[in-house]
Amino acid sequence: MLKFSIFLLYYIVYLLLSFGEANKSCSKTDKQCREDKINKYSKESNTKYLKYLNLIEEAREKYVPCDANKCRCHAEVISNDLQPFKAKGISRKLIQDVKSKGTRYQIIRNRLYREQSCMFPARCAGIEHFLLDLLPKLPDTEFIVNTRDWPQIHKQYGVFGPVFSFSKTADYYDIMYPAWSFWEGGPAISLYPRGIGRWDNHRYKLGKLGNETSWEDKTPKAFFRGSRTSSERDPLVLLSRENPDLVDAQYTKNQAWKSDADTLHAPPAKEVSFEDHCTFKYLFNFRGVAASFRFKHVLLCKSLVFHVGDEWLEFFYPVLKPWVHYVPVEADASKEELQELIEFAVRHDDIAREIAENGYNAIWNHLTMRDVVCYWSKLLKRYAKLLTYEPVLDETLVEIKRK
Ligand SMILES: *[C@@H]1O[C@H](CO)[C@@H](O)[C@H](O)[C@H]1NC(C)=O
Ligand SMILES: *[C@@H]1O[C@H](CO)[C@@H](O)[C@H](O)[C@H]1NC(C)=O
Repeated sequence: MLKFSIFLLYYIVYLLLSFGEANKSCSKTDKQCREDKINKYSKESNTKYLKYLNLIEEAREKYVPCDANKCRCHAEVISNDLQPFKAKGISRKLIQDVKSKGTRYQIIRNRLYREQSCMFPARCAGIEHFLLDLLPKLPDTEFIVNTRDWPQIHKQYGVFGPVFSFSKTADYYDIMYPAWSFWEGGPAISLYPRGIGRWDNHRYKLGKLGNETSWEDKTPKAFFRGSRTSSERDPLVLLSRENPDLVDAQYTKNQAWKSDADTLHAPPAKEVSFEDHCTFKYLFNFRGVAASFRFKHVLLCKSLVFHVGDEWLEFFYPVLKPWVHYVPVEADASKEELQELIEFAVRHDDIAREIAENGYNAIWNHLTMRDVVCYWSKLLKRYAKLLTYEPVLDETLVEIKRK
């Protein structure tokens, strides 16, 4: 506390001195006066924002672009996720132990089999689309696919075994796979009643729009629309109510909506298409129940993405680096912290623009449909090598064929 007071005192003296100097030189020429003002502004701003500038500098120095050859960009994620199974391999018993955690699949002689029932049929279909494409090249294997949002194999408690999940945190042993929603079965909102899917189409449409909308033409506000799945989003929505020139963040209805209390005591806002997000310079991405499907979409707007929280992962997240491709935001950031961070971006427009472009390029170049297919292929081939037995067809499973 004392240290801080002394620092504050020095800081005030320093500010007074610089004001005094600026005043003196203003009696010289107008030009000199302007230059002094700029210096003073940047001194002040550098002190306040120095921490961000340092983080950006550090991130840039550390950053090594990934090797896009043979979709190696995401390969390390597979190695990490399979690591816990490396020493002992995957036995028949290990799979038995976790078979209630998801839907069981087998690939036998290049045919695909599945348990009769699937908890979320559209999600299974979104997954099978990729598996069916790859069948001619896949080895015999069997695996459990969790189609819930939530991962299943906690490191501290519960059973251990190989379960594929689309999203997880570092607390889980789940093996990440590319979400069903790259093809179909994504969350259905009123704008996409059949669910967000067809990444190839979205990618192209948004990527084109991102290229066509110039940075200067974007509204310089932070934007968010989504339902109140958690109170994590409240500070931004409250900041928006206080400071509508800086932030436009409003809650939309979700299925559980009953009254304005569910949208933080304001009428629900309309849902906004990804395309309309792109007209704003700063876009907020919060996690949903698990990772948010929004992330990859909003990055293609070529707007600056503020990504809240760093716990939840999908397979492609590790390619994206904080301060290089997006602005990281603490999950518990206060209204004041959010405001400072957004204002930092507003006042450092060239930096904001550069990070926005980096984010776009990372998704455009390294999250193609080919990357998704390639990931599945690499994952299943490496996984199959870990089996300690030869899988034989379970007659209770049904064959899945292309419709
Ligand atoms: C700034 O300059 C003006 C006139 O040039 C003077 O009246 C004023 O007292 C000065 N203020 C400070 C803080 O030096
Ligand atoms: C957008 O621009 C980049 C860089 O010029 C280019 O590589 C990319 O193909 C463009 N995207 C689309 C959808 O046209």
